Amino acid sequence: MLDVCSFLLKSSSYIDGQWFDNTDKLAVVNPATGQPFHYVSNMTTGDAIKAVESAHRTFRDWSHQTAAYRAKVLKTWLDLIIKHKDALAYIITLEQGKPLAEARAEIEYGAAFIEWFAEEAKRVYGDTIPAASQSQKIIVTKQPVGVVTAITPWNFPHAMITRKAAAALAAGCTFVVKPAHQTPLSALALAELADQANIPAGVFNVIVSDKSIEIGQVLTQHSGVNKFTFTGSTSVGKQLIAQCAQGVKKVSMELGGNAPFIVFADADIDLAIKGYLLAKFRNAGQTCICANRLLLADSIHDEFIDKLHTEMAKIQLGDGTQTTTNMGPLISVSAVERVNELVNTSIKLGAKQVKLNIAKPNPTPNSRYYPPTLLTQVNEDMPVVQQEIFGPVVAALRFKSEDEAIKMANNTEYGLAAYFYTRDISRVWRVSSALNFGMVGINDAAISNPAAPFGGINASGNGREGSKYGLDDYLEIKYLSMGGLI
Ligand code: SIN
Repeated sequence: MLDVCSFLLKSSSYIDGQWFDNTDKLAVVNPATGQPFHYVSNMTTGDAIKAVESAHRTFRDWSHQTAAYRAKVLKTWLDLIIKHKDALAYIITLEQGKPLAEARAEIEYGAAFIEWFAEEAKRVYGDTIPAASQSQKIIVTKQPVGVVTAITPWNFPHAMITRKAAAALAAGCTFVVKPAHQTPLSALALAELADQANIPAGVFNVIVSDKSIEIGQVLTQHSGVNKFTFTGSTSVGKQLIAQCAQGVKKVSMELGGNAPFIVFADADIDLAIKGYLLAKFRNAGQTCICANRLLLADSIHDEFIDKLHTEMAKIQLGDGTQTTTNMGPLISVSAVERVNELVNTSIKLGAKQVKLNIAKPNPTPNSRYYPPTLLTQVNEDMPVVQQEIFGPVVAALRFKSEDEAIKMANNTEYGLAAYFYTRDISRVWRVSSALNFGMVGINDAAISNPAAPFGGINASGNGREGSKYGLDDYLEIKYLSMGGLI
């Protein structure tokens, strides 16, 4: 099976345009089987420092290239990614567990950021501002922030790297990423293709390690780092922000979410069901923008739950490499235990589990499969509502009025994504302005794409990824004051 992608399976880290190994090995486990299928070198803080120093050395040359040159190099990388789409998708499925169709979609999604930012690189415009005196000219230019370091998550092992790296490289920054140690192979495959695309040595570096705390300290505190970017949990994000604060480093953080999915009584129910299935079950519920809380208007609650139950019963849980599978396992045994705990505690507090006959593929004690689960009679005090579930669990609540729905939706420290379904145009504007979230899907659950600014507010972080705003996060504004003019 590995033949499909073996030419892209690397075992070393990519630093300064070279591959480095050591004797300490990390096992990469297939979540579908619980078995290791590949080993990679477990790098040290010394290697992370080497990567930052290499990015620092290369920055001057890379940032001085024309935007057109950087765009051309990025496009070569993009073409190679598209050429090897199937192999890259297979790697994602093996190390992360999502079904192949979703893995292919992730490659396309990730590649689209490279295309987007390669084009956007050529449109980094400055400004002139009318000055206060006749003898002065005010000119505003934009320049790359410098060396960017990143820590990326296991849930999108390809796209969460390209969406940061493409923006950074397009802007003229150099880049060091530490991917999640559970899913290093997609990152290393990207490095192999970056090498083949002749991205200059030191511009794109990948360092694999399970020494997350120590490597995180290098990436946030090394004097050669100008900006740090992270996608992951809010608790880890807070720690990393505190580390960056010591060197006053620029940060952008894509942290946790607790997305409400509101269905008003006047909604197109079938459209809302379709959107909900996507927003809830994509990647087995393991995305930051997953619908965490399903808020249903009283009058349509039963109809929605009946239709949802019918659709959920069709979910095929299994090994993502099988074509019949449309939902894979969770990432780890501890992830399964965590979701189980949230569900069981909520049931003890009064939630009702609606029966669904979905077979678990391998009902062994260490199975990473968690079946789609439907909970009704949920209230706001339950852990499935208060915490980010990160699993395929529906937590359905009822509301009686628009005001109550908005109050419930905003009753969270998070502010990443929210969704609502209605056919009332005035309600569209009222509710979208009242929701305290960075992204709002209105009759739409497919909100992620490179043209749009992805990001949150409050405990969900800061900064935006994708769109023209995503490039700004990798640029500094410089004001030139020209005086003494006659
Ligand atoms: C995430 O879960 O962090 C990213 C989801 C997306 O890009 O759609």
